[in-house]
Amino acid sequence: MTYPSVISSKNARKVSTLPAGLDSLRMPEHIAIIMDGNGRWAKAKGLPRSMGHTSGVESLKNTLHLCSDWGIGALTVYAFSTENWSRPSEEVNVLMTLFESVLKRELTNLKLEEVKINFLGDLDPLPIALKELINESVELTKKNKGIRFNVCTNYGGRRELVLAAQKLAERSVKGELDPSCIDENVFASELFTASEVDPDLLIRTSGEKRISNFLLWQLAYAEIHVTDVLWPDFNADALKKALLDYQSRSRRFGGV
Ligand code: IPE
Ligand code: IPE
Ligand code: MG
Repeated sequence: MTYPSVISSKNARKVSTLPAGLDSLRMPEHIAIIMDGNGRWAKAKGLPRSMGHTSGVESLKNTLHLCSDWGIGALTVYAFSTENWSRPSEEVNVLMTLFESVLKRELTNLKLEEVKINFLGDLDPLPIALKELINESVELTKKNKGIRFNVCTNYGGRRELVLAAQKLAERSVKGELDPSCIDENVFASELFTASEVDPDLLIRTSGEKRISNFLLWQLAYAEIHVTDVLWPDFNADALKKALLDYQSRSRRFGGV
């Protein structure tokens, strides 16, 4: 993947080449990441949790660049879950303010770097200024041809499935859809990920071995890589390890 606009711009950054040992022909098309461990990273350094989140943003920026440079088609990250509202309101506010300031700051670069950004989740309860910025960024980058960058915000796998079921039921009641025609494709077309392929690789940082309500439908056949690295420490080396792990797997999809 090449980005002429970036190379010629004054914002040009150094493009990272695929590390030795990785097979360019066996890269995942779509990587999903549960970016976990910001709080523990901060605690270990005697810093407030908010510093962990701020630092996590730099990891995300770096990871997006690496994925783009290494030929990954789509990166989907878990930024805020439907369960994260249960955190102390100060932390929720910090996160919402951070999302807004980062998006504002990065929007021009996302456009220049050909990133196509999308937000998956129930965006309604988000602060109005953030919602406006989200709409603007999706609109501004919708024709971009580079990496598809999906940010799961107020996302919950169960909420997504329930909303899809509601939409299908409404269409059926209106007589627009015969219930016997609802198959996996029709169902998937009502999910937030409707235009996206399923993730090939799921990475979870900070060592937790659970999926915490993330992409319940879409992860059906994803390879799972759990690393003890805390999200703010996630770097090129950690991504390379995840990809080497992925490339060592035999994906059978139920076959032999
Ligand atoms: C992940 O880091 C970021 C969000 C969930 C928003 P955490 O904040 O969950 O960090 P830990 O798990 O407490 O270390
Ligand atoms: C998952 O992390 C959600 C995000 C990364 C946004 P959590 O920290 O909320 O998950 P649990 O509580 O450890 O399952
Ligand atoms: Mg956590």
